Amino acid sequence: MNQHLYIITGASRGMGLALAQALLSPNHRVLGISRQSNEALKVAAQAQSTPLTQWTLDLSDSEAAAQALQMWLSGLKPEDIASATLINNAGVIPTIAPLSGSQPGEVARALRVGLEAPMLLTHAFLNASFGWVNAGWRGPRKVLNISSGLGRRPMASQAPYCAAKAGMDHFSRCVALDEAQHEHGARIVSLAPGVIDTDMQVHLRGADAAQFPDRSRFVSLHTDGALSSCEDAAARLVRYLNQADFGHTVVDDLRH
Ligand SMILES: NC(=O)c1ccc[n+]([C@@H]2O[C@H](COP(=O)([O-])OP(=O)(O)OC[C@H]3O[C@@H](n4cnc5c(N)ncnc54)[C@H](OP(=O)(O)O)[C@@H]3O)[C@@H](O)[C@H]2O)c1
Repeated sequence: MNQHLYIITGASRGMGLALAQALLSPNHRVLGISRQSNEALKVAAQAQSTPLTQWTLDLSDSEAAAQALQMWLSGLKPEDIASATLINNAGVIPTIAPLSGSQPGEVARALRVGLEAPMLLTHAFLNASFGWVNAGWRGPRKVLNISSGLGRRPMASQAPYCAAKAGMDHFSRCVALDEAQHEHGARIVSLAPGVIDTDMQVHLRGADAAQFPDRSRFVSLHTDGALSSCEDAAARLVRYLNQADFGHTVVDDLRH
C-alpha cells in the first residue's frame, strides 16, 4: 500500500472540512485534528474507502497535540507512504475589540491555536518525517500553512489574529531556509486563501460595529456575493498543493 498522507487541522467545519472532503480518495490517508469530530466526514470517508482518523484535540494545548502527532507519525511505516502533507488550517478570531479592551485569556488562546500550534505541529511533522528520510525514504514532504491577507495588512481590533498570521508567514520563511539546507528538505508555503463563506465570516459580520471600524467591509463581502464557497476554495487549495513548483513562493496568495 502506498498512500498519500494528509494531516489537516480544523477539519471539523468550514474550509478545513471541505478540504478534508476534497482529499478523500482510496489512495489517500487523512488525519483531521479539531475539538470536534465530524460525522458526515466519517461517512464520506467510508463511502470513498479512505482511511480517516479524527482526533478531538484542543490545539491551544499545542505541546500535547504536537507530541501526539510526532508519536503517531513515528509509528507509521514509511514504505506505506507515498507523500506526506501537513495543512495547518485551524485558526481563531477572538472577540473583536481593540487590544486594550480584549480578554487576555482569549488573546493568548488565539495565539496558541493560530501560531504556536502550527509551529509545534510543523516541528513534529518535520522531525518525524526526517527520520524516514534518514532511513532512505524519498517521498515529498509539504507543509501548507493557511494564512490570511490580515497577516500582511493591519486592521484595527484584529491584533491577535493579524499577529498570528504575520508570525505564520515569517516562521514559514525561516523554515523554508532551514529545509533548503537539506538535500531532501520539506517544502513549505504560507498561503492566504481569499475570503470564504464560513463561521469565521459570520463572526466578523456579527462583531460590535462600535468596536470594529471595518465591520461594514465584511457585511459588504457577504451582500455583494464576494465570498467563495468552501468547496471552491478547497478545490483551488488541492490544485495548489499539487503544483510542481509548490514551495517556490513561500508566502503566497491563492488569488494571485
Ligand atoms: N473564512 C475566511 O474568509 C478566511 C479568510 C482568510 C483566512 N482564513 C483562514 O482559513 C482557515 C480556516 O478558516 P475557516 O473560515 O474555515 O474557519 P472556521 O469556519 O472558523 O473553522 C475553524 C476550524 O478550526 C478549528 N479550531 C478552532 N479552534 C480550535 C482549537 N482550539 N483546537 C482545534 N481546532 C480548532 C475548528 O474546529 P472545532 O471548533 O471543532 O475545534 C474549525 O474546524 C483559518 O486559518 C482562517 O484564519 C479564512
